[in-house]
Amino acid sequence: MSRPTDAHALRTAFLDFFAERGHERVASSPLVPFNDPTLLFVNAGMVQFKDVFTGRDKRDYRRATTAQRCLRAGGKHNDLDNVGFTPRHHTLFEMLGNFSFGDYFKRDAINWAWEFLTEVLGFPADKLVVSVFNGEGDDAPFDQEAYDLWAELVPKERIYAFDAKENFWQMGDTGPCGPCSEIHIFRGDGPAPATGGQPGKGPAYEDDAYMELWNLVFMQYEKHEGGRMEKLPAPSVDTGAGLERLAAILEGASSNYGTTLLAPLVERGKQLAGVSGDQGEREASFRVIADHARATAFLIADGVTPEKSGRSYVLRRIMRRAIRHGTLVGLDEPFFHEICDLVVDQFGDAYPELREARAAIADAVQIEEQAFRRTLDRGLKMVEATLAELPAGAQAFPVDPAAKLYDTYGFPIDLTRVIAVEHGLTLDEDEVAARVRELQGAGDGAFVGGDAKINDVYFELANELGATQFLGYAEVEQRATLQAIIRDGQRVDAAGEGDAVELIFDRTPFYGESGGQIGDHGTIDNSGSGPAEVRLEVSDSQKPTGGLIVHHAKLASGRIKVGDQLSLRVDVTRRDAIRRNHSATHLLHHALREQLGKHVAQKGSLVAPDRLRFDFSHPRPLTREERVAIERQVNEMVMANAATGTEEMSLANAKQAGAIGLFGEKYSDEVRVVTIGTSSVELCGGTHVARAGDIGLFKIVSEGGVAQGVRRLEAVTGTGALDWVQHTASIVEQAAAELHARDPDDLLVRLSKLQEELKLKERELAQVERKLATGGAGSSEVIEVEGVKLLVRKIGAADPKVMRDAADTLRDRLGSGVVVLAAERDGKASLLVAVTSDLAGKKVHAGKLVGALAGHIDGRGGGRPDLAQAGGPKLAGLDQAVADAATQLAAQLSK
Ligand code: ALA
Repeated sequence: MSRPTDAHALRTAFLDFFAERGHERVASSPLVPFNDPTLLFVNAGMVQFKDVFTGRDKRDYRRATTAQRCLRAGGKHNDLDNVGFTPRHHTLFEMLGNFSFGDYFKRDAINWAWEFLTEVLGFPADKLVVSVFNGEGDDAPFDQEAYDLWAELVPKERIYAFDAKENFWQMGDTGPCGPCSEIHIFRGDGPAPATGGQPGKGPAYEDDAYMELWNLVFMQYEKHEGGRMEKLPAPSVDTGAGLERLAAILEGASSNYGTTLLAPLVERGKQLAGVSGDQGEREASFRVIADHARATAFLIADGVTPEKSGRSYVLRRIMRRAIRHGTLVGLDEPFFHEICDLVVDQFGDAYPELREARAAIADAVQIEEQAFRRTLDRGLKMVEATLAELPAGAQAFPVDPAAKLYDTYGFPIDLTRVIAVEHGLTLDEDEVAARVRELQGAGDGAFVGGDAKINDVYFELANELGATQFLGYAEVEQRATLQAIIRDGQRVDAAGEGDAVELIFDRTPFYGESGGQIGDHGTIDNSGSGPAEVRLEVSDSQKPTGGLIVHHAKLASGRIKVGDQLSLRVDVTRRDAIRRNHSATHLLHHALREQLGKHVAQKGSLVAPDRLRFDFSHPRPLTREERVAIERQVNEMVMANAATGTEEMSLANAKQAGAIGLFGEKYSDEVRVVTIGTSSVELCGGTHVARAGDIGLFKIVSEGGVAQGVRRLEAVTGTGALDWVQHTASIVEQAAAELHARDPDDLLVRLSKLQEELKLKERELAQVERKLATGGAGSSEVIEVEGVKLLVRKIGAADPKVMRDAADTLRDRLGSGVVVLAAERDGKASLLVAVTSDLAGKKVHAGKLVGALAGHIDGRGGGRPDLAQAGGPKLAGLDQAVADAATQLAAQLSK
């Protein structure tokens, strides 16, 4: 195998190397883990094989190799803020790995890793050091076996041993785990110092002199709740090598950003900003943009959309951070989609899903950037206004406006801080976050903080309690056990009257906002278990992460505590309206594809009780005819009154059945497919009507554009549609009555007649005005000033066009001379000066003359040498202007 020359070839070489050694090439799994609701994003190569290690899942191969996209951002261990400012922090990175599921063990894993690094990549053996597990407790002894195997390849002085913190790997608190061996490279000159050979002594792992290259985990145990360790059915291997780091060594780059993986993205950013070469401090911004573009493109390809909670919020935060850094380096126009598009070009061979999602990535990035730039513009104005009002000597940026900026405009708090610091001011971000919580009402502090924080409480609860069982497909009322109470962002055991709380039950009929459908409202009480004194009003239900359904509620009376059995009742009228709008959204989606073409793909949707909103890809505004046809088709499907059905099936079967919808979001093997009759088949987790006829009437109420190539329709159904129709009809009736039309058809005839009449009247009026203005220009009116003929006239009411026409006529009549007209119109005074061409600009300048007269009407004016006008508010000054004309002309002529 020849030595790869760049990072992309390195990736291929790794996969080839292990494929030649009997490993199945398995595709990277999406970033959204399908088998683990508690994990925010896939963060290691082994995640997709978690259950294979424990024996719960069987595959028809026992060796596998992958290049796995991984994301470490958001959640508890989040170093997003470091990314860009260090050579090796990333949000998204690629982990190369080889895996054995009860097949080979330590010897092959160690020998192959060594062979690949030293022979295929040609890294100098004397620069590499390795470590083994030093042992901890009886359960997990010193890894003598690994030590002996390494000793066959590496001098003992370069073998180290560390304790569990460094050399025992586990994915989380529970799951497969085992001792590991790590390979590090010495970054200094010459061979690695020979200081090893003794357990626990050697290079610190944080030491900049060394860089970790590869981790070989010898999976031997499964850790259960409470820390109990059980031997795995068969010892296995899980390895992970960061592609970016291997590439940096291979390519001799001092930072990961200098490799062929990231350098082209950094360069593209600079090109768009019109700069080149090292940008000093600004280099970090270009790195942020490069790193975040990779994360953004992959996340969108994996079905995540930038929104306000959970994973979607992490994406939004990453995108906004990149765009913000763009504005710091002079990228003043939307640019981020271009960098993301280059990611597709650069990584599309290795990850074909990027190419499939190219359009979706471009759309989502453009929409988000446009929206965020509007936010920034509005926010920056308010920041400037606040700064301008600060008293001299102020030390801190005030908390209230910073909180309002975040709460009202979504302006990032940390951005306010950056600007404050630029002006020599401080900003207490914690205080601002607290103020925001107050503004939003207690308990709503979920997304407040730097760029706004993901609430760790939710992750903790998802981890501990697992997904909430959703009963609301079949039921709207149910008793359930209260498992957790959150108040002011903190978990509490009990709450009392007046408290605003977030509640989590073991099961619930309340739908947590997701898939565009907004959350249910309703009530919770303790009827059926003691006196019905407990009563809560539920104002929202959310699904922040890990399938957790969170009820936002206020305690109207009584006390509650964890463990209580309570009755949960969904507001049925509201839910029914939501059902109608959700089912209608499916019919609309279907009709759009029939009427406009199969290029129509869903870009976003909102299903609320009062309306539905559907964003979709289509290059042009819809014509009236298209809208009418779409509306008709939806209503015909409603009247056909087909039954709706739901079925759980495999993703493959769903595709086979022609299901449409956001496939990218679903990775579990089983998906829920909602059908309405035979034509509408869609992936969906929402709640629907029983039969299409329940929708009643479907009415489109608006159509517009959201971004390049994305249209938005809004529509109403059921009673909402009835209200809309009745309201609109009543307006038409009233208008008809006003215009004495017999019926609405006659109304249009009346209107066009009226318009014609109005036009005619305007023409007549203009004629009359012109006649009045120009009529009877006897020579008596014309005086001579220093040998120049001057005609001054006050002409009553006239609009500027009539005045100009009149001036033309009068000027022609004079032959050679100056015309000054004064008029009033709509309560304003206006003046006009026209000069014949023989004088204009030579002896007399119309603009200057009108300027000299404009003072009388408190106005200003100017214009060309031959024609100029002025306007002003002071009607009473018109006569003075007229009287002053001769004097001002004389003054000009005498110069
Ligand atoms: N799963 C191991 C890691 O992430 C290889 O380091």
